[in-house]
Amino acid sequence: MPHAEPITLTIDRVGVRGDGIGSWRGQSVYVPFTAPGDVVRVSLESKRGRGQSATLDEIVSPGARMVPPCAHFGTCGGCALQHLDETAYLASKTQWLEEALVQHRVTAECILPIQQLPAGTRRRARFQITAQQIGFHARSSHRLVNLRECHVLHPDLMAIVQPLRGLARTLLSSKQIGEATATLSAKGVDLLLDLPDVPGIEGLEAMARFADSQDLARLSWRHDGEVIPVAIRRKPQVALAGVAVDLPTDAFLQASLDAEAALTNAVMAMGDGAKNVADLYAGLGTFTFAMAQQAKVHAVEAASGAVTSLVQAASRAGLAGTVTAEKRDLAARPLGVHELVGFDTVVFDPPYAGAKEQCEVLAGSQVRKLIAVSCNPTSFARDARILIDGGYHLAEVRPFDAFVWSANLELVARFERR
Ligand SMILES: C[S@@+](CC[C@H](N)C(=O)[O-])C[C@H]1O[C@@H](n2cnc3c(N)ncnc32)[C@H](O)[C@@H]1O
Repeated sequence: MPHAEPITLTIDRVGVRGDGIGSWRGQSVYVPFTAPGDVVRVSLESKRGRGQSATLDEIVSPGARMVPPCAHFGTCGGCALQHLDETAYLASKTQWLEEALVQHRVTAECILPIQQLPAGTRRRARFQITAQQIGFHARSSHRLVNLRECHVLHPDLMAIVQPLRGLARTLLSSKQIGEATATLSAKGVDLLLDLPDVPGIEGLEAMARFADSQDLARLSWRHDGEVIPVAIRRKPQVALAGVAVDLPTDAFLQASLDAEAALTNAVMAMGDGAKNVADLYAGLGTFTFAMAQQAKVHAVEAASGAVTSLVQAASRAGLAGTVTAEKRDLAARPLGVHELVGFDTVVFDPPYAGAKEQCEVLAGSQVRKLIAVSCNPTSFARDARILIDGGYHLAEVRPFDAFVWSANLELVARFERR
């Protein structure tokens, strides 16, 4: 039975999902949009794990807070942490990493302070679009927040939101919902529209006019999984370590150019002296082309479009002898111990769930140095435990705030064989 009366408690910390956590009758209570030190009145809602979730009724006395920069903060599901002052913000993100490591009994020789990256630089956004509104989902809801401002996105992405409203009115009836994925490439914005219906001639013409008027690099639409370009005004590309790579519509990119540069610099510093590198979960080759400046690199990636782009880019750049690539599902078929012989360094940058299967093989390998890139301290710590049990030691962890104001933390870590 939920407790009917509001309760008063003090928020002690911010958890990995971005909610403030206080305690009441020995249970953790999770309250969104609260800060350490806040004394709050809250209404308990439902069970959450061994604790309770609650909604904020009133801040009785404020803790480590600041005024959020965005007017949508608190309703928009995009940001969770704009209300924390800088000290509490950085301490919270650092604490997530420390707690994840402790949970898996992982100790690191050195954890650097978190490196901050600028807001207003994110280069990809997935907007929900209707004939009336464009924006992001509200927190834990399908309700749309009609976007008037956004402080995390690159201004070139925000610039298409207002004009996109007119196009959405042409493409969608009053009850329909679509999606617009905008990616900022080196050649301009690449826009993909997910539409509930196949557009008619009027819709196609409107899209072509929109691509021209907004000077888009490419505009495509997708229905039932098939991507159909309407206008390719310039082929969207990204420059990875100076190599021009064609951008498939749905390929992974690091959050921003600043994040890409910071992570790449960390990988290169940690990989200094490498001669033969395997870059696992390589995507379009963010680390492949960086490491190819000093080593032979074998890139492994599951997405075929990314592998094709990477191989073509390597060939155009005259790197065919230096960079090789393979399409492979590393969860189903991790690189085996015999295949790892000959690599002095392995870089791996898996998706959020981590690289459990590949780490189980790496743990039994003789690769001298492993460089992990991760967007999830929890799966990273689990994988680190596997590697440490296999005889590696965690020499260095560098955290980065690549997803500003979100409940995410990026990191680069170096393991050495004992
Ligand atoms: C976090 S991204 C990193 C990409 C690249 N390292 C970069 O920095 O741009 C993870 C990549 O792993 C790929 N991936 C996901 N699951 C995979 C699997 N089971 N096997 C191989 N690659 C996978 C995704 O397609 C994506 O490109």
